Amino acid sequence: PTADRVADLVARMTLPEKVGQMMQMHTYDGVPHLIEEMHVGSILHASPERLDVAHALAARSRLGIPLLIGEDCIHGHSFFEGAEIYPTQLGMAATFDPALLERVARATAVEVAATGIHWTFSPVLCIARDLRWGRVSETFGEDPYLLGELGAAMVRGYQGEGLADRTAILATAKHFAGYSETQGGRDASEADISRRKLRSWYLPPFERMARAGCATFMLGYQSTDGVPITINDWLLNDVLRDEWGYEGTLITDWDNVGNLVREQRLFPDYAQAAAAAVNAGNDMIMTTPAFFQGAQDAVAQGLLDESRIDEAVARILTLKFDLGLFEDRRLPDPERQREVIASPAHRALNLEVARRSLVLLENDGTLPLPSDRPLRLAVVGPNADDADTALGDWAGASGQADWLMHGHPRDLTTTVLDGVRAHAPAGSEVTYAKGAEIITTGPDPKGAYFPDGQPRPHIAFPVEPDAGMIAEAVAAAEGADAVVAVLGDRIELVGEGKSTATLELLGGQVALLDALVETGTPVVLVVLASKPHVLPPSADRAAAVIWAANPGMAGGHAVAELLLGAIEPSGRLPISWPRHVGQQPTFYNQIDAQHGYRYADLTQEPRWVFGDGLSYSSVAYADLRLASSALGLADTIEATVTVTNTGSRPVLETVQAYVRDVNTSATWADRELKGVTHVAVDPGESVDATVRIPVADCSIVNARGERVVEPGAFQVLVGPTSRLDDLLVADLSVA
Ligand code: IFM
Repeated sequence: PTADRVADLVARMTLPEKVGQMMQMHTYDGVPHLIEEMHVGSILHASPERLDVAHALAARSRLGIPLLIGEDCIHGHSFFEGAEIYPTQLGMAATFDPALLERVARATAVEVAATGIHWTFSPVLCIARDLRWGRVSETFGEDPYLLGELGAAMVRGYQGEGLADRTAILATAKHFAGYSETQGGRDASEADISRRKLRSWYLPPFERMARAGCATFMLGYQSTDGVPITINDWLLNDVLRDEWGYEGTLITDWDNVGNLVREQRLFPDYAQAAAAAVNAGNDMIMTTPAFFQGAQDAVAQGLLDESRIDEAVARILTLKFDLGLFEDRRLPDPERQREVIASPAHRALNLEVARRSLVLLENDGTLPLPSDRPLRLAVVGPNADDADTALGDWAGASGQADWLMHGHPRDLTTTVLDGVRAHAPAGSEVTYAKGAEIITTGPDPKGAYFPDGQPRPHIAFPVEPDAGMIAEAVAAAEGADAVVAVLGDRIELVGEGKSTATLELLGGQVALLDALVETGTPVVLVVLASKPHVLPPSADRAAAVIWAANPGMAGGHAVAELLLGAIEPSGRLPISWPRHVGQQPTFYNQIDAQHGYRYADLTQEPRWVFGDGLSYSSVAYADLRLASSALGLADTIEATVTVTNTGSRPVLETVQAYVRDVNTSATWADRELKGVTHVAVDPGESVDATVRIPVADCSIVNARGERVVEPGAFQVLVGPTSRLDDLLVADLSVA
C-alpha cells in the first residue's frame, strides 16, 4: 500500500532531503543547485529545457525521487505554444454552466499532462467584490454558490477518473481564504475580515473543494487580525483539517515564508519562520530558498520537531505515488502533444465556451446585424485587434509572462477584427481604425521584478486622446451600417500586483466613444475587458453593449457570430457592473442596513446586476410552484417555473433560483443564489424548468458564527436575473 511505501521512503531520507522535498522552486537561478544541493521536490515556471535537466538530475539523485511539476494553467494551458487558451475564469463563469466547465478542465488536463506538468494552480475560489483588485478575472465572480459549483466542476475535470489516470492532474483550491477581501482593491493587502464574514461567504466554496477531493490547497498572501495566512492556525488546522477533515496537501503562495521575515517582520530569522510555517501545517513551501537552511536550523534549535517535517513530506510523497510518478515520471510526451494540442475537439470546445461566455447587456434592436446582404462595418478601438488582451491573464502573452518561454503566437488568436472579417456577409466592406491607445509602457522605476533581470513593464501611464486617431475612426464610422467599438483594459493592467485605482476606460477611449456616437451610425460597444468597467455617459447612446471578458483564442469568432446572429446570446453576469468606482464594493447579496443604504450623491444600484444578460428574443416566466411548500430540514425544495419564449428567436435561458430566509436571528442577505438550470426554448414554446435545492443549503451564519438552518418562513425566488423586480416568489415553511 502507498502508506507503507511512503513510510519506508521517509525513513530513508536525510533531514536535508526531507526539507528539500517540501520545496517548490522556480529555475531562474539554475537547475543543478536546486536538485543536487537542495533536493527540491517540485518545480514551477520552467522551460522544457530546464525541466529536462531537472528530471535527469532527480533521477540520478540518491533516492531517485521524481519531481512534481506545477504551473498556473488556470484557463487552459498557459505556457505551451498552440495549446488552448479559453476565456478567463470570469468569462467562463458567465456561462453559469458547471458541466461545460468540467469539460474545459478535462480538456485542459489532457493537454497539460501531455506536456509533463502534473499540477495546475486552479481553480480560483476567491470572491470578487472590489473590482479594482487586479485578479478579478481569475475568479468566478461574486457569488459563493456559483463559485462552489463551478470550482467543483473544474476539480472533477482536472482530476478526472482519479490521479492514477495519466491524463489526470492535481487541482488546487486557492487562495485560502479571504485574500480577495482587499483594502481599496490593492492586491495582497491586510484582509480586514471577521470570522463570521469568512464563514458566511468566503469559506463555503473552499469547504466544497475540500469535500470534492481537491488534491491541494494554496494559501493567499493576506493577513487577518494580524496573523499572516501562512501561520493562521485557526484556518489551517481548526477549520480546514479538523472541521472539514481535509487530508490533501497545503502549498504556500510565492515566498510566503520569506515574507514572514522580510515584509511582515514577524520573525527575525528563517529558522523561526520555517518552524512557524511547518508547525502551522504547510506542506510545500513555494519559492523560499532560505527555507532549506532555515528548516534544518529550526530542527537543530528545537523549534521544530522532525516529525512535523515527516508529516509534510509524507503528504507530498503520497501525491507522487498517487500520480504513479515512481513508475512513470510523466515526462513531456511529444507524440501525445501532437495528438491532443490544437485537436479539433479542443478547438471546438474553446469556441463553444467563448460563445456561451458573451453577455449581451443592452440592445435597441440593432443586433443581430443583417446577415443576408453585404454590410459596411467599421471595427474600431484599441482592443479590436489586440491578441494579448483577448487571451487575458496567465496566457503567456507578451508583456505579461515574458519570462516564460512559450507565448501564444498572434496567428493562433482570433481578434474581433479577424472574426468580423471572417464572418461578415459576402461582399461586405470592413474598415479598421484603432482610434485610441490605452496606456504606454516603460521600464519599472523600481527596477527588475524577476531575478533574471527582466524588467517589469510600467503600467501607470494612460495616454491622452489622439485627435488624428479619433478622426480616422470617425471617418470609418461615417456612412457605415454599424460601428463595432471594442474598448476595455489591457493585459498590463491585469493580474497579480496590478490592481487599479480607477475602473474607467483609460487613455483615449472615452473621447473615441463620444465621437463615435456623435456620427449617428449605430455603435455596438464590445467591452473586451478583464472585468466590468465604468462606462462613460456616451455608452448610454450605444445601440448595444456586449461584455466579452478576455474571450480566449476563439473569442473573435464568437463575438462576430453573435453580432451577425449566427449564435444566440446566453451569458449572464457573474459579477455586478458598477456605475462608478466609488460604489465599490457592490454585489447583489449585500446585507441591507437601515435608512435607505445609499449614497447621498449616487444610487448604490449597479449599472447591471449579478445574473443580468439579454437574448435576441424575449422570455416570460410564469407559474412558479413548489412540489411541497412545507418541508423538513432533511428535505429538498423542488421549484418549477414555466419559461415561455415570447419572441422570434431561440433562447438558452439561465433559470436562477434564489432563497430568502424571511426572518433571521442575525442580519443576512435578503436573497442568495441556491440553484441554476438551463433550458432551451424555441419561439412560441413554453418549457417547465425545475430546480432542486436541499433545505440544508438554506442556512445562515448566526451571531455566534455557526451555520444553521433556522426553521420558519422562507421564500423561493426564481427568474432570469438577481434583480428583485424580475423574480417570481413562492412561500415555503421549514419545520
Ligand atoms: O499560483 C500563483 C498564485 O496564484 C499567485 N502567486 C504565484 C503563484 C505561482 O505562480
